[in-house]
Amino acid sequence: DWNPDNVIAEQVARIRAQVGSARVISALSGGVDSAVSTALVHEAVGDQLTAVFVDHGLLRKGEREQVQEDYVAATGVRLVTVDAADTFLAALAGVTDPEEKRKIIGREFIRAFEQAERDLVAEAAAEGEKVKFLVQGTLYPDVVESGGGTGTANIKSHHNVGGLPEDLQFELVEPLRTLFKDEVRAIGRELGLPEAIVGRQPFPGPGLGIRIVGEVTRDRLEVLREADAIARAELTAAGLDGEIWQCPVVLLADVRSVGVQGDGRTYGHPIVLRPVSSEDAMTADWTRVPYEVLAKISNRITNEVREVNRVVLDVTSKPPGTIEWE
Ligand code: XMP
Repeated sequence: DWNPDNVIAEQVARIRAQVGSARVISALSGGVDSAVSTALVHEAVGDQLTAVFVDHGLLRKGEREQVQEDYVAATGVRLVTVDAADTFLAALAGVTDPEEKRKIIGREFIRAFEQAERDLVAEAAAEGEKVKFLVQGTLYPDVVESGGGTGTANIKSHHNVGGLPEDLQFELVEPLRTLFKDEVRAIGRELGLPEAIVGRQPFPGPGLGIRIVGEVTRDRLEVLREADAIARAELTAAGLDGEIWQCPVVLLADVRSVGVQGDGRTYGHPIVLRPVSSEDAMTADWTRVPYEVLAKISNRITNEVREVNRVVLDVTSKPPGTIEWE
């Protein structure tokens, strides 16, 4: 019978055999796969591992704290956070094309991560040690999709900003290669990871950067972050997390409409709610969220987020609509 304890014991033994006494680097994204693969490697080799978290400024409210505080408290992993928000924002200035945004975010991510890698390699060298391994949260479906090769970074380029540099300098440690997502979650829970991370809905690598239709700016990110936090909190409070695969919250930054708030006329931006139900994100249907829940979300967002005067619901299935707006 499949049992998370056995998988953990087996993987810990394998990782120890592979890694020996060398040092290991891992990238944490806030997502389930990197959180669980990193925790497994930490379980196996402790402080030989350093985890790197790149804060690109496109995260949702509370995500950085979740990694820095809750994840570190749960695992004891040694974490280095790279503050790269300014660099990412500067690189994204003036850019509105979605694919261009993805390219820029991917490129900047690799740059930031490689700098952290170089620092860790230098630090290890100063202590007479060597960094030889890089952890990757590749799952079984990723292996199948990419043709099953071993030893190099088999990451769908579109699907992961975590798509790490194909760094031949390091050998990969991939403790999730035989597992499916629900198994990975079970292992994460067994390892005591925070439910907010283990149960997290899929969130795109480019983050909020592809949920602002228009140019990405610091102010717009702040608006979207607040609206997204409200929508997430209310959907969770209504018990809908099991039914909803994910719910992009999108800021139409270049659209303005007239509204009336308090005793004044406003000229604000719409927020789109895109709750979808799906098995694998290949196809999806819009989730029939109860009207009362939608009303609550709409009231709260328009009351609490000054720049937003309208909340609209996306009722398109996939196909023809994609899950994300960009
Ligand atoms: P679409 O919008 O194509 O999304 O229906 C399908 C799934 O993929 C996610 N997605 C991304 N994930 N980098 C990612 O890591 C991306 O550039 C990206 N674009 C879309 C999306 O959130 C959904 O789960």
